[in-house]
Amino acid sequence: MKGFETLRWREGKLEMLDQRVLPATVQYLAYTSAAETAAGIRDMVVRGAPAIGVAAAYGVALEASRQRAAGAAAFKTALEAGFDVLAKSRPTAVNLFWALERMRDEWQHVAASSKEIIAEHLIVAAQDLHAADIAANRAMGRHGAALLASGARVLTHCNAGALATAGHGTALGVIRSAIEAGKSISVYADETRPFLQGARLTAWELMQDGIPVTLIADNAAAFLMSRGEIDAVIVGADRVAANGDVANKIGTYSVAVVANRHRIPFYVAAPISTIDAAIAGGAQIPIEERNESEVTGYGNVRWAPAGVKVRNPVFDVTPAELVSALITERGVVHAPDTAKLKILLAAKQN
Ligand code: MRU
Repeated sequence: MKGFETLRWREGKLEMLDQRVLPATVQYLAYTSAAETAAGIRDMVVRGAPAIGVAAAYGVALEASRQRAAGAAAFKTALEAGFDVLAKSRPTAVNLFWALERMRDEWQHVAASSKEIIAEHLIVAAQDLHAADIAANRAMGRHGAALLASGARVLTHCNAGALATAGHGTALGVIRSAIEAGKSISVYADETRPFLQGARLTAWELMQDGIPVTLIADNAAAFLMSRGEIDAVIVGADRVAANGDVANKIGTYSVAVVANRHRIPFYVAAPISTIDAAIAGGAQIPIEERNESEVTGYGNVRWAPAGVKVRNPVFDVTPAELVSALITERGVVHAPDTAKLKILLAAKQN
């Protein structure tokens, strides 16, 4: 993976690649507070479950750093407000809440220290989460690559690549690792209406690396499967329930149903931080609904009639029974269910 960083820490600021304007424009925006970072997450400057988690961790560190000169009570109040505004930025990706919990633990460890030490500690903690996400993606890639035969034509939905993580990617990380292992892999990228993560981000990201990618309209996937032109599906996840149900970008469920109809393996690549053991099944996963403007047009172009009623749920839930395997940094779980995920969560990384 070369040429871009999704997030980077530069001279005490968080810089994020603005994913709203890719691929036409490659620009980084700088962030100096938790509220600004939360707005960047909400407005999709950064998106993708693991990347949102890392951004939120930096948001906490920025707030602590900004409040160094405040009195002890004001520092605590501002940091709590920072946690709060970040937690409200997006509801579905559990990595956000997972990262905020880790950062709260880190704060508790050093809460009795000076504000300077707390701020420094939280910056290092965010950088550690950043590095750990890349390492998890690399491990996932190694485990998942074994599932792909050389010559495989792989369909993916949304963007679960380097742009959605701290680097390498989850679903696209598996593809990258398979290619690094010497396999010949080509990708079909669903365009992913309405925000076009597939057309704008996955296509761009894979082309940066010279990985063969063909862009298709979302509704072309079933046809290509029926013609035997797709060998496997790999997607990422925003939250995996304790029973293996998977919340991911809207449209993932229909891809899983059609893959099942054609006996094509449907793989989900997600780090342990995406598994929410507190949620028994997918029905309880909060599903974000975003602004209708994402459906009525794109950018400055509007194609739907003024006043039309719109729904814009941006995630859906694929039942575990349609998931051939869950690829994690701890290994591959075939036909995931509650018992297998319990064992996985209790296991140590290998
Ligand atoms: O709305 P987005 O772009 O944040 O949705 C992203 C997805 O659905 C990804 O597939 C998921 O976060 C996995 S990213 C490794």
